[in-house]
Amino acid sequence: MRVLSGIQPSGKLHLGNFYGAMREHIRLQEQHDCFYFIANYHSLNTIQDAERLRGLTADVAIDYLAMGLDPKRVKLFRQSDVPEVTELAWILATVTGKGLLERATSYKDKVARGIAASMGLFSYPLLMAADILIYRSDRVPVGKDQLQHIEMAQDMAAYFNNTYKCEALKRPEPMLGEAPIVPGVDGQKMSKSYGNMIDIFGEEKPARKRIMSIVTDSKGVDEPKDPDTCNVFALLKLMAEPAEVAEWRDRYTAGGMGYGEAKKRLAELYEERFGSRRAIRADWAARPDDVEDILREGARQARAVAIDVMAEVRAACGIVKAST
Ligand code: ADP
Ligand code: TRP
Repeated sequence: MRVLSGIQPSGKLHLGNFYGAMREHIRLQEQHDCFYFIANYHSLNTIQDAERLRGLTADVAIDYLAMGLDPKRVKLFRQSDVPEVTELAWILATVTGKGLLERATSYKDKVARGIAASMGLFSYPLLMAADILIYRSDRVPVGKDQLQHIEMAQDMAAYFNNTYKCEALKRPEPMLGEAPIVPGVDGQKMSKSYGNMIDIFGEEKPARKRIMSIVTDSKGVDEPKDPDTCNVFALLKLMAEPAEVAEWRDRYTAGGMGYGEAKKRLAELYEERFGSRRAIRADWAARPDDVEDILREGARQARAVAIDVMAEVRAACGIVKAST
């Protein structure tokens, strides 16, 4: 089964990205034919600084490799190394009604948060559909916020196939993991746009400080506490083994435990899970040529698929291309 996902290079990865997406991506490499790309064309909507975009693009690759993505199993590549994807986005635009894009909730949310309402942002679902359809992807692992975009890709594949009476584009299905919404230090969804993140490659001391600052209610040590509404517990649940989570649950409900204690344990778990990866990350970061080779090889393999699909798409709609 072909699994595809895109990751925007838009900032440092945090626990929300890791438990919400990256961990699942890495797990899937064991069993599937995985295509993961760094969505740098998409990021142009928000990162309009060449040096920064280059740096963030490399960071995504390094972060994934440091957390255990196996470049021999996965095709890891930059979106822009398969330029055919922008051609497909255009062709999809010609068979897609404007009303479909006008219903995109993610566009409205982003504009409400102050991101410029560019045509790039408005057309985002077209490029995302092209990303998915050009590799004949079977499954697309994403968070709930991206579901509507996958449904749009399904619609666009059908519009194209129906218009040209062909089967050139394959209907993709979303793959929703069990990933919960990871809360940030203030209890809202952890997100770069809220500034409430705990980075996965933070240095030990600042990360601990950040963990100790997680907002809790004001219950005293002796009082019983509700684990299910506690932000610290939500993170413990992600990082500790099930037996330990059960112990913490009992300690919360019994009373006699302060939030500080749970936070200290969380800081230890963070260090166990991510601390050891810092050196591995530094190692990859010191070998930019090796990272580049991985991205190029990933792109070479991905592009071979895209070229075949585009040949069918062009033939179906009558676009003639000089052979090069
Ligand atoms: P951010 O909100 O920090 O800008 P993105 O929107 O770039 O993060 O998210 C990248 C990926 O990480 C998406 O697949 C998204 O579903 C996942 N993700 C981000 N934040 C969280 C969170 N707090 N909980 C679960 N998953 C998350
Ligand atoms: N829109 C996705 C996000 O913001 C990133 C993305 C771009 C993507 N193209 C994709 C994800 C194709 C899955 C498939 O997280």
